[in-house]
Amino acid sequence: MKRAKVGGKPLRDFPGRLVLLGAGKMGSAMLDGWLARGLDPRKLIVLEPQPAKDVKALTRRGVALNPQGKLQNAAAIVIAVKPQSAPEALPTLRPFVGKSTLAVSIMAGRTLGFLQNALPPGTAVVRAMPNTPAAIGRGITVATPNRKVSARQRKLAGDLLAAIGTVEWVSDESLMDAVTAVSGSGPAYVFLLAEALAQAGVAAGLPAALAAKLARETVAGSGELLHRSPLDAAVLRENVTSPGGTTAAALSVLMGQDGLPPLMRAAVAAATARSRELAG
Ligand SMILES: NC(=O)c1ccc[n+]([C@@H]2O[C@H](COP(=O)([O-])OP(=O)(O)OC[C@H]3O[C@@H](n4cnc5c(N)ncnc54)[C@H](OP(=O)(O)O)[C@@H]3O)[C@@H](O)[C@H]2O)c1
Repeated sequence: MKRAKVGGKPLRDFPGRLVLLGAGKMGSAMLDGWLARGLDPRKLIVLEPQPAKDVKALTRRGVALNPQGKLQNAAAIVIAVKPQSAPEALPTLRPFVGKSTLAVSIMAGRTLGFLQNALPPGTAVVRAMPNTPAAIGRGITVATPNRKVSARQRKLAGDLLAAIGTVEWVSDESLMDAVTAVSGSGPAYVFLLAEALAQAGVAAGLPAALAAKLARETVAGSGELLHRSPLDAAVLRENVTSPGGTTAAALSVLMGQDGLPPLMRAAVAAATARSRELAG
């Protein structure tokens, strides 16, 4: 997939070894991002039982794939396995974790408490929640550190996560449930919008293929406009709504009493509650 352009080489001077646990969709996106941001491939160790062709090919550039024998402490480890693989996968990181190693987890729902228990006592841990546009370098990740994370390690975690998009920090871990409900699950809401718009186009008489294309490009183009514009979403919306016009007619439905805002509030509340339940 085509990645967004990245400026600068902030990982050129990465201070030591970087271990990636799990090179699936997210892990591979991070690998691409790190290398594009100047990380020396010889500093990278990838632990992945079934590496894809692209990941295997990185060994030719000096990346160590599932190395055996004498292992060194890493400056940072990034955990990108599925949450359910964590109990089995995390012990394999022990040889790489020393006193100054930073652990960054992107596993959904795995708390700082869980990570601290699974890693050696005193490990500096960052819990992060990315979202799926990370695959094209356009994700947004929210990160929260435990008390052991130094200012230098926080900067390091920020640089690693910036390889897949924008990074925001919160100090209150309990906000991660709402974060999961807004940006983690959010791409699915936007894809649903494209689906529903296409279905509505068919109901209004358009051929299905044309309706799907119009909906897809409208959502993608508006997303890009929102991304590039300094204006708020509300202002962009107002700018395309003339009084008494067609957009105003549609918005009177979408912004009515049972319209999108209360529906979205209920959807985000349901996802937040589910995230809390899953974290236990
Ligand atoms: N995708 C998203 O949009 C998204 C959004 C937010 C957070 N996340 C989080 O990101 C993490 C990764 O998601 P993903 O979509 O990239 O999943 P994925 O494609 O399934 O990648 C996970 C990778 O970890 C590998 N793995 C399993 N056990 C391992 C072990 N013991 N040691 C090393 N590697 C092991 C898997 O290999 P096998 O295939 O052989 O099992 C797989 O390649 C998840 O924790 C998820 O919660 C994802």
